[in-house]
This record gives sequence, structure tokens and C-alpha cells, in this order.
Amino acid sequence: MKIEITPKVNWVGKIDYELRNFHGDQITTQHGSSYNSYLIQDEKNVLIDAVYTPFAEEFIANLKKVIDLQKIDFIVVNHSEPDHSGAIAKLMEIIPDTPIYCTATGAKALKGQYHKNWNFVTVKNGDILSTGGDELMFIEAPMMHWPDTMMCYLKNEGILFSNDVFGQHFAEASMFDDLVNECELMFETEKYFANIISPFSKKAAKKLAEIEQMNLELKMICPAHGVIWRKNIEKILELYKKWTNLELENQITIVYDTMYGSTRKIAEAITRGIAQAGNGVKFVIHNVSKSDGSDIITDVFRSKGVIVGSSAINNGILNSIAGIMEEITNLDTTNKKAAAFGSYGWSPKAIDGIGERLKNSGYIVELPVFKVQWAPDEEQLNKAESFGREFALSLL
Ligand code: FEO
Repeated sequence: MKIEITPKVNWVGKIDYELRNFHGDQITTQHGSSYNSYLIQDEKNVLIDAVYTPFAEEFIANLKKVIDLQKIDFIVVNHSEPDHSGAIAKLMEIIPDTPIYCTATGAKALKGQYHKNWNFVTVKNGDILSTGGDELMFIEAPMMHWPDTMMCYLKNEGILFSNDVFGQHFAEASMFDDLVNECELMFETEKYFANIISPFSKKAAKKLAEIEQMNLELKMICPAHGVIWRKNIEKILELYKKWTNLELENQITIVYDTMYGSTRKIAEAITRGIAQAGNGVKFVIHNVSKSDGSDIITDVFRSKGVIVGSSAINNGILNSIAGIMEEITNLDTTNKKAAAFGSYGWSPKAIDGIGERLKNSGYIVELPVFKVQWAPDEEQLNKAESFGREFALSLL
């Protein structure tokens, strides 16, 4: 299977409609995903990125139908993560001398993962590879989202091969943004950004500003997952600008888990308080044991405020909360306010620990941790409402 992008460029990747989890179980992919590989056929033939290891044989069999593998002059590895480089290892068994263009960091990562001394050609920002009738310019983009990440730009075609950046876990044979459900596409695009790129938002913002300064004519953006942007290029660039600059929404995300319902009652009282604030701040509430973890992170990412609650158990907090805390505290916390709450039986130490950890990871924590021993009574629920109201009022 190939999909023509332009007369000189074909998509030769793999669409995985069945995929439901990515990065182990870290990210859910309800719309599946695709591993996008692109083949430029010019005087020189260039393969850009490949597919995930389990699809290596299928990828190579398919690629053979498009081109005699011996006629691939160059391989570009924009990013060494196995979902894109896995099939390269298999391909290199057939064309072992083919030069692999990647960043110096990429070469190290590929060596570390595959233990092969392939013919690496390391490139830097602005380096150009001639394809004969066109030029491929390399744009290093470290920490968007790995240290080795780069993009490349095919000048005459006006195509930016952006790797994970601008990607989405969205399996669609239509392969172009104007041919799919835009609402679903945008949801998956934001979820992808929140879960994959957002921990490195500041670096991404800087790189995007640098690319904007280059005044590249962008006719298409071809990411390494999901569909190609050709209709909504300005829109996706604007959204990435907003997201990387951490322009947050007037939203509070409440994240909690509960053993016997006490923490849930406090969480619900907090929502009533937020509603009473009457200042237009919205809220989203997630019981971590029942909601999708990637959706929770997407909500936390877009919110100005985050409130985390847990029951105490033994000397700690619930393991569901401990898990989501790992992700919440790894996001870019700039300008985000947070608060913590929970119920305990005999020691509030672990609940206090939630507030401390939020503060230590950069969240602005102004309110004291809201704690209730055993089950909350009416008065304590009223106080929880006040806590929610005060937090909502502090956001604007
Ligand atoms: Fe899609 Fe970072 O690999």
C-alpha cells in the first residue's frame, strides 16, 4: 500500500487500527494510530522514518512493491524511538551500507538500541541533502520530545516532515486532515500534545518560533503519526503556539480516588464550591480508577488549576493517585495553581505529602491541604465547598 502525497512523495507506512495503548500502557489510543514512513523518489531516493518493530516485515514487503530496495540512496531517521526506527533494523539487513542521516544524538541512540555500526551521517540544523531535483533541509528539534528529535523540510514540495510533532494517534487511510472528522482529529491532536510534547513546552515554543522565523512555505506538514496537515496548517500552528506557550484555560481539574467514599464526598463538595464562585471557571472531575489516564492528563494540561485528593492508606496514598501524580508532576507546571485534599484515619502525613509534592514540582500551592479525619460531616463539607470556592476565585 502506498498513498501519493505528491508525484514525488509517497506515504509507505503502516496503519494500526487495533492499537489501543501506546508507550506500554501509558497512553490510550482509542482511534488507533499510524506509523508514517515517507519515500521521496527523485534523482536520489530517500526514505524518511519507518515503522514499529512488529510491522517490520510487512513494511519491507510493502516497500518492495513501491521501490527496488537497492535503489534507496539515503535513509533519514528523524527520531530513534522504536515506533519509527524498529523496521530500520530489519531494512538494514537487506541494504546494510545505506547512509542513515540523523542527529549525532540520534546516532548514539540508534547504536544504543540496535548495537550496529551502520553508516551514520550526522547532520546539524540547516544542513542540506540534495535529492537531485530538490533539497531536504534538516531542522534539529531536541526535546520535541526526545533529545535526538529532528524534522526535515523538502524545499520545492513545501513539505515539513515533522516526526512526532503535530502528530496524532489517529488511524485513517484517508491520510489527510480535510478528509477526516475534524472534531475527533483535534481532540486526538491535543491529547497527543498533552501526553507527549507538553512536558517540554518551553523548548518546543522556542523551536517553533525559530521555524516561524525561517519563513518556510508550508504546503503540507507530514507527521510520523496520524494524518497529514494540508487544510488546517495555520490552525495547527496556532494551536501549537498556544499550547507551547501554556495559554491555559479557565478550568480546574479535580483528580481523586477514594476508599470508602469520604474523599469522593469532599471532591464533590469542592465542585459545588467552584460552581458557587460564579466567575466562569469550569471544572472537570476524574476518579482516577474510573477515568482514562491520558484524558486526565489532557485535562490537567489545559487547566489553570489542579486539585488532587486521595484517601490515606497505611503510610501512603492510594496507588492510583501515586501513579497519576508521577505524570502530573512531570508536566510543565508554569503558572498552574494546585491544591490537595483527602481523608485519613490516624495520620494525615501522606495527604500533606500530595501538597508538598505539587509544590516541589513547580505548582503554585497557596491553600493549606484540606484534610478530614474519618468521614466528613456537614460542617466539614461546607468547609470543603469554601475551599473549592476560594481556589476558583484565586485563579482569575
Ligand atoms: Fe512516535 Fe517518539 O515516537
